[in-house]
Amino acid sequence: MRTGVWLVGVRGSVATTSIVGALALRAGLTRPTGCVTELPEVNSPALPSVADLVFGGHDVVATPIAKRAEALADAGVVPARLVAALTEELAAVERELRPAPTAGTQADRAAEIVRDLTTFRQRHGLSRVVVVNVAATEPAPRPHPGHADPDALRTALAGPDEVLPPSSLYAYAAVVADCPYVDFTPSTGLRLPALTALADSHAVPYAGHDGKTGETLLKSVLAPMFAMRHLAVRSWSGLNLLGGGDGATLADPDANAAKVRSKQRVLGETLGYLPQGDTRIGYVEDLGDFKTAWDLITFAGFLGTGMRLEFTWHGCDSALAAPLVLDLARLTAAAHAAGRTGPLTELAFFFKDPLGTATHSLADQWTRLCGFARSLDPGGTDAASG
Ligand SMILES: NC(=O)c1ccc[n+]([C@@H]2O[C@H](COP(=O)([O-])OP(=O)(O)OC[C@H]3O[C@@H](n4cnc5c(N)ncnc54)[C@H](O)[C@@H]3O)[C@@H](O)[C@H]2O)c1
Repeated sequence: MRTGVWLVGVRGSVATTSIVGALALRAGLTRPTGCVTELPEVNSPALPSVADLVFGGHDVVATPIAKRAEALADAGVVPARLVAALTEELAAVERELRPAPTAGTQADRAAEIVRDLTTFRQRHGLSRVVVVNVAATEPAPRPHPGHADPDALRTALAGPDEVLPPSSLYAYAAVVADCPYVDFTPSTGLRLPALTALADSHAVPYAGHDGKTGETLLKSVLAPMFAMRHLAVRSWSGLNLLGGGDGATLADPDANAAKVRSKQRVLGETLGYLPQGDTRIGYVEDLGDFKTAWDLITFAGFLGTGMRLEFTWHGCDSALAAPLVLDLARLTAAAHAAGRTGPLTELAFFFKDPLGTATHSLADQWTRLCGFARSLDPGGTDAASG
């Protein structure tokens, strides 16, 4: 089942690490550490193998992917020996990368994206192409009447207005090209009524939002623990310091606000109340792709006795994110092959701000993911019940 993975933001850190990782796995040069779909509970014959994945993508910058990979090796994100061993494979991926369309109306740009996706699918004889957004985080868009329904949107896109933010224009084009869409970012993507209605009419599945790789991953484990032990969380404050392209983007207050909103949901929805405190994100260029999150939690136990927990997380963001991008591409492709449509709420395990699901507990999300994976297996016991 040769499957296309079209990365929006393909020359960024997460995309480049995903591509280097997949090529290294295919060549047998590394192990699938961090790939959830390689665990027996989630692996299934219904998933395309990593070796079946064919990469392409769009970006607004033209830096060769091999140069981006070398820069990531210099920064200690990927091993330099892998980048050196994959020169030919990276050159082959480079031939599949396209500049983000900039000319004409948004309808013209969407048509160009649709052409790029369709010719990619045909050129490689792919059974399907999963579009994954790993582009820079955008601020929330201003409301527009075109967001309401597909007909209003089609008319508005042909006019002079910038109706959709880039993530949503890619989501629109993905759906029109009958491609499943995954949003690994906190950007708007498919979350507009016009786009979800369009996705329904094209019968494509979609998943999002915002990959859960660090501080929020820990929150989704620790917050249920406080709730289950009936301990009262009084405050939860977090400070995230990061560099790299993502850190530079998040220095912009509007993009920062989108990310902070996405990080806060887990506490309110798991505890049933919002403790004092907030999450802050700061840009420190020297940290590069290595993020430090420091959290301070104060809580009360029996008789109101006050206690505290602190943790410090030092994560390499792209190394944490890349295997999840591969997992999401494989699972979403298999869901599409199985005829699944609409939001894939069972993939909440992977996201900070999951679509259409009430549970933020990682353990509950894991159970749902395992059931989902079993349901995709044509020979599995759950297949008959869907
Ligand atoms: N690394 C993680 O752990 C993690 C976790 C959750 C979410 N994310 C999200 O993943 C995204 C990528 O992160 P990164 O570290 O790779 O960032 P990055 O800055 O290294 O890469 C982003 C890429 O997007 C490109 N881009 C910007 N606008 C574009 C457009 N309109 N069309 C096409 N390409 C465009 C940029 O040129 C750049 O190459 C961010 O939105 C980030 O918030 C990352």
